Amino acid sequence: MSVSPAPAPDDRHARAEERLGTMGTSYRAVGTREATAANLAWWDADADDYQATHGEFLGDAEFVWCPEGVREADAGLLGPVADKRVLEVGCGQAACARWLAQQGARVVGMDLSGGMLRHAREGNRRTGLDVPLLQATAERLPIATASMDLACSAFGAVPFVTSIDAVFTEVSRVLRPGGAWVFSVTHPMRWIFPDDPGPTGLTATQPYFDRTPYVEVGEDGEATYVEYHRTLGDYVRALAGAGLTLEDLIEPEWPEGHTRTWGQWSPLRGKLFPGTAIFRTRKP
Ligand SMILES: C[S@@+](CC[C@H](N)C(=O)[O-])C[C@H]1O[C@@H](n2cnc3c(N)ncnc32)[C@H](O)[C@@H]1O
Repeated sequence: MSVSPAPAPDDRHARAEERLGTMGTSYRAVGTREATAANLAWWDADADDYQATHGEFLGDAEFVWCPEGVREADAGLLGPVADKRVLEVGCGQAACARWLAQQGARVVGMDLSGGMLRHAREGNRRTGLDVPLLQATAERLPIATASMDLACSAFGAVPFVTSIDAVFTEVSRVLRPGGAWVFSVTHPMRWIFPDDPGPTGLTATQPYFDRTPYVEVGEDGEATYVEYHRTLGDYVRALAGAGLTLEDLIEPEWPEGHTRTWGQWSPLRGKLFPGTAIFRTRKP
């Protein structure tokens, strides 16, 4: 396994990388234990900076699906939510969950990271919307079978877990028949380009077909951050394997006049190829 130098200094994540002792990056196999420990530590370490960087864009009680700025209030991907029991997977600061609560849903937010959930509790306090919060991994949901009408996730959990089969099977289990699971992730084709919002991010360098996860490592070689790549076909097969029907795959276009850069998402790249994939699925 070859390890490249640590990621280029990036103010957004510098503090998390320093706290975790990130020394380099690599592509190598990572199992559930190592990935869960790394991502728990990473999201805890990055929680304050994530909120400081993105909190205003995401709002206190708004449902924003992606850096392209698609809002559930406009897109209606979940359908009517009033009186529905909804689980938000990988809720982070839980802005989506609070928007759902405002619309009359009975919503629960869950996340792996206590640091992200601390911001969720602060958001609850600021808004007076007391959304129940759970700390768990999406691969094993502490939620009763068939107890949810809807499940959703905006970039939560799915890119960071070893097994999307486990997550989709768990989500399918907690949904009642007819319930929907809608989630957004980085569009799989972004994998082939460097994580760079500028012109460097326009040249393909990484094979689309290589599923070996991206890993940041500390001095001892243990992962400090892990992100997985799945092809579009992998998502379709995992959803089918969990008994979920794919109803739509939304690839949001970069909106005219939207100038905000979010990490590798930028107007330059967004005008050329998709940055986000939103899967709308249903349990038959
Ligand atoms: C990019 S943030 C998205 C947060 C929020 N949904 C938003 O739109 O800002 C990813 C979230 O996934 C959570 N996460 C990572 N691995 C997870 C896992 N195995 N189970 C549940 N949540 C996880 C992280 O703690 C983090 O809050």
